[in-house]
Amino acid sequence: VFRNKLEFFAAAKVSSSFPPAELPEIAFAGRSNVGKSSLLNALTRQWGVVRTSDKPGLTQTINFFKLGSKLCMVDLPGYGFAYAKEEVKDAWEELVKEYVSSRVGLKRVCLLIDTKWGMKPRDHELINLMERSQTNYQVVLTKSDLVFPIDVARRAMQIEETLKANTSIVKPVMMISSKSGGGIRSLRTALAQIARF
Ligand code: GTP
Ligand code: MG
Repeated sequence: VFRNKLEFFAAAKVSSSFPPAELPEIAFAGRSNVGKSSLLNALTRQWGVVRTSDKPGLTQTINFFKLGSKLCMVDLPGYGFAYAKEEVKDAWEELVKEYVSSRVGLKRVCLLIDTKWGMKPRDHELINLMERSQTNYQVVLTKSDLVFPIDVARRAMQIEETLKANTSIVKPVMMISSKSGGGIRSLRTALAQIARF
């Protein structure tokens, strides 16, 4: 599935401009700068289709990409971006919340958490929302190359414990690095299942 050509096909700032849901969809959510756009590139090995930046807040719209005619991959704008104006920030957040709770065709949300920093209040908020709206989601720890392996494992355990306390079904946390490629294959395998059903 991930060998298919990745093509940008729509950007939306409001829910009324979401494209029709024709393919199974996987979305990537998380704080600004957590590595959402980089992960899309790493999963597809197609660098440069999705823009990444070291300045947080680059992705300000919901961006829809087609992977051949198999899957739709969605790059969500990051939340918690410190430099944006408060109103703009809230608007992004509302858009993301609306998307994850009501998008038809959405099969899974990958909630990305920076391994070094762990879960923040806004991540909890999004998890609670996804629990309420019965959205299928999966926690993915990013940038594992920046942390000692023992600390990556500790962080994963800590988050699994938190999820267990708060949620219905617990899925293991996945750990990846878009830079070193660690964990990318496993995540690719897990996500490829979605295209088939
Ligand atoms: P927004 O669009 O602002 O929400 O950010 P994003 O979540 O899309 O992050 P993006 O992929 O643009 O990456 C942000 C920064 O983190 C860039 O400088 C990336 O090069 C860096 N980065 C992403 N993934 C990794 C990783 O696995 N390891 C390391 N060391 N750096 C990474
Ligand atoms: Mg981005």
